Amino acid sequence: MKSRSEREWWRDAVTYQIYIRSFADGNGDGIGDIEGIRSRLPYLKSLGVDAIWITPWYPSPQNDHGYDVANYMDIEPMYGTLADAELLIKQTHEHGMKLIVDIVPNHSSDQHVWFQEALRSPIGSPARDRYIFRDGKGENGELPPNNWQSVFGGPAWHRLTDSDGNPEQWYLHLFAVEQPDFNWEHPEVRAHFEEILKFWLDRGVDGFRIDVAHALMKYPGLPDIPPAEELAAHGEFVPDEFRPTWDQEGVHEIYRAWRKILNSYPGDRMAVAEAWVSPASRIARYLRPDELANSFNFDFLTSLWEPQYLKGMINRAVDAMAEVGAPPSWVFNNHDVTRSVDRFDLGLQNRQVNTFERQGDPAKFDIARGTRRARAGALLMLALPGGAYIYQGEELAVPEVRDIPEDRLSDPIWKMSGYQDRGRDGCRVPIAWKSAPEGAHGFSSNSALTPDQAWLPQSPWWGSYSVQSQVGVAGSTHSLYSQALAIRKNESGLGDGPMQWIDAGPNVIAFTRPGNFACFVNFGAPIDLPEGADVLLASAELIDGKIPTDTAIWLRVK
Ligand code: NOJ
Ligand code: CA
Repeated sequence: MKSRSEREWWRDAVTYQIYIRSFADGNGDGIGDIEGIRSRLPYLKSLGVDAIWITPWYPSPQNDHGYDVANYMDIEPMYGTLADAELLIKQTHEHGMKLIVDIVPNHSSDQHVWFQEALRSPIGSPARDRYIFRDGKGENGELPPNNWQSVFGGPAWHRLTDSDGNPEQWYLHLFAVEQPDFNWEHPEVRAHFEEILKFWLDRGVDGFRIDVAHALMKYPGLPDIPPAEELAAHGEFVPDEFRPTWDQEGVHEIYRAWRKILNSYPGDRMAVAEAWVSPASRIARYLRPDELANSFNFDFLTSLWEPQYLKGMINRAVDAMAEVGAPPSWVFNNHDVTRSVDRFDLGLQNRQVNTFERQGDPAKFDIARGTRRARAGALLMLALPGGAYIYQGEELAVPEVRDIPEDRLSDPIWKMSGYQDRGRDGCRVPIAWKSAPEGAHGFSSNSALTPDQAWLPQSPWWGSYSVQSQVGVAGSTHSLYSQALAIRKNESGLGDGPMQWIDAGPNVIAFTRPGNFACFVNFGAPIDLPEGADVLLASAELIDGKIPTDTAIWLRVK
């Protein structure tokens, strides 16, 4: 095996996810932007991350906050200009970090020129064939073409009306109504995205995060999805035709073509798949040597705080990735799920489609315990083989924000679920850089902006999770992350490479990595430190020399 300095950077990298609207506001309008990110590069550098991933920054009507792209080869004016983006790429590199952009190939915005052209064009015309238009069922086409549901709630089909106000065809949108799905059978769609990849690679980006990478191809004929009981009979391996929107064989051909493009550029360009597939053997199929570099391990993100489950899941992931020679990519948080502080305490799994699990019962929430577990989980994640993705605010242990007033909720899920599911805004509140309220706690360059005036309001308690209150403060979660990342850099046995389990009882996950490094995570009653071990880092203070409950510890062992 190659050493860390010899192998591709994406095998070991810790990548920091920037949700651009909520990271830092450079022009004072209350919405994050490129200028804001540039001003915070020194923060990211000193935190110790290797790469940043920026959520979609393209021109967009923002119906899904940028995941509805109107033009893939430009920058949303609210966020800056193409020149600003180029400067950010350059300066990120000068800080010794890589930069990944988000690409959204499953659907565009309904404002994309191609969709607008399709709307103006007659039924059956080539312009319509770039998307998925179908006649409705029923006597007058009044029923949707099949029973598919939008991930955000309600039917996945929207019926158009013609210029005379008469109803006509339906189009497919697996997400919001404003996000029509592309027809990936169409060669122009394929060519368009290859051009987009090159456009950004030419501008120096190091890679792409591929939005819903497993959704691009649909099963031929667009068959109905059978009832859940029938699907359950297939266990983990549901045949392609019964999950006609997800993880179809045909997606792999697309990624093989993309890999060729990535490989044609110097410097280990990469792509990471957002593919909500399971078990790990399905994830591995995206990571075959001629396909993608990384694919998020969502089994990890949806895990309960339960040692035997976690251990089994880690085992399966490590084994499955080894079969294809790829590193696992661990993730505990992103902009789509309830914050880990809440999840680990309340036993929320956050499978994307089971949105009812999103919030849990706040009356049962013990934030101290949740925080403790999230901190322990971080040390577990950063010690495992492969790379890791962390989400802005995770390094501050911010909890889910549950008190956003209903009239300020802006996630399309809120409306599309018939106002049942509050959606994902609770993990997207703009970062508090300062404890004092001015400039929305330093989020904005406009010091007159109040916390309530940020695009999503910051709650009155938000300042207590500020960057300012944690940087350089012993015992803070920021310090825990920055120390962990510094150790990780110096430990050549961390990142990609082998691990070995240590049996320390049913309530403990323990393993070693090369270089006499060990990680112990204790889920049960306090346990003794292994004999002769030196503590490198601990997620909570030891008590009488023992590792307390819900604590992870990094050790140098004999
Ligand atoms: C996954 C993204 O992470 C999410 O935020 C978005 O709403 C959907 N894909 C649709 O693009
Ligand atoms: Ca701004």
